[in-house]
Amino acid sequence: MRVRRKKNCAVRIAACAHLLITSPESLKADPSAPFGVTRPIHIEIGCGKGAFACGLAVARPDVNLIALERVPDVVCLALERAVAESDKRQADNLRFIIGDAQKIGEWLPEGSVEYIYLNFSDPWPKKRHVKRRLTHPEFIKIYKRLLVPGGRLIMKTDNVAFFEFSLEQFAAEGFEVIRQTRDLGRSPYAAGNIMTEYERSFTERGVPVCMAEAVLSKNA
Ligand SMILES: C[S@@+](CC[C@H](N)C(=O)[O-])C[C@H]1O[C@@H](n2cnc3c(N)ncnc32)[C@H](O)[C@@H]1O
Repeated sequence: MRVRRKKNCAVRIAACAHLLITSPESLKADPSAPFGVTRPIHIEIGCGKGAFACGLAVARPDVNLIALERVPDVVCLALERAVAESDKRQADNLRFIIGDAQKIGEWLPEGSVEYIYLNFSDPWPKKRHVKRRLTHPEFIKIYKRLLVPGGRLIMKTDNVAFFEFSLEQFAAEGFEVIRQTRDLGRSPYAAGNIMTEYERSFTERGVPVCMAEAVLSKNA
C-alpha cells in the first residue's frame, strides 16, 4: 500500500499507544493478556488503514482481534481510526502490531488462533517474488502451527491468479476450502461481509472480489 509519509507519525502513534502491542513476544505467554479478558484470538495480516479490523471488532465483541501491519505510516491511520471509532465497540477487543508477518510464529503460541484474515494481500505476480506472497507454503506452515484444530484462514483478493495460487497452497497444506466465490458481492456470502479499503475501491470500480474460507483439517 502506497501512503505518503505522515507528519509526526511517531507522535501520532504514541497518542494511540493504548491500542498498540509493542512487545509482541509477550503474547507467547498469553495472547489475550493485552485485552485483559480471554476471548478467541483472530488475526488480520496486512490490515492497511484498518477499516476491516475496526468493523470486525464492532461486529464480534466475543473475540480479541490483533491487526498486524508492517508500514508504520499506514498503522498510524489504522490506529487513529480505531481510536475515533472506539465508542462503537462494545468490547475492548482490538489491538495492533507494527511488524512483519514473518515473525508471527515467534510471537504467538502454537494452537492459539481461531481465524486468520488475509485481505487483499500483495499478489507479488513475478515468479522471483513468489516467496513474499502471504499464501506461500512457508507462510501457510506458520499459520498451521498457530491455528487451533479446526481454525480457519479467510482470504479476499481481486487478483484471480493469486486466488488460484492460494487455493492450491491451501489444499496442499491440508486445508479444506469450505466456502469460495469469485464474485463476493453477488454471492450468498455478501451478507455480513465487512469491506476493506481496497475492497471498497475495487467494488466501486466494478471489479469482482474473490473470497475463500479454508478450515484446517484435524489430521493436517
Ligand atoms: C494491498 S494492501 C491491502 C490493505 C488492506 N488489507 C485492504 O484490504 O484494504 C496490503 C497491506 O499488507 C501489508 N503487508 C504486506 N506484506 C506484509 C507482511 N509481510 N507483514 C505485514 N503486513 C504486510 C502492506 O503493508 C499493505 O498495507
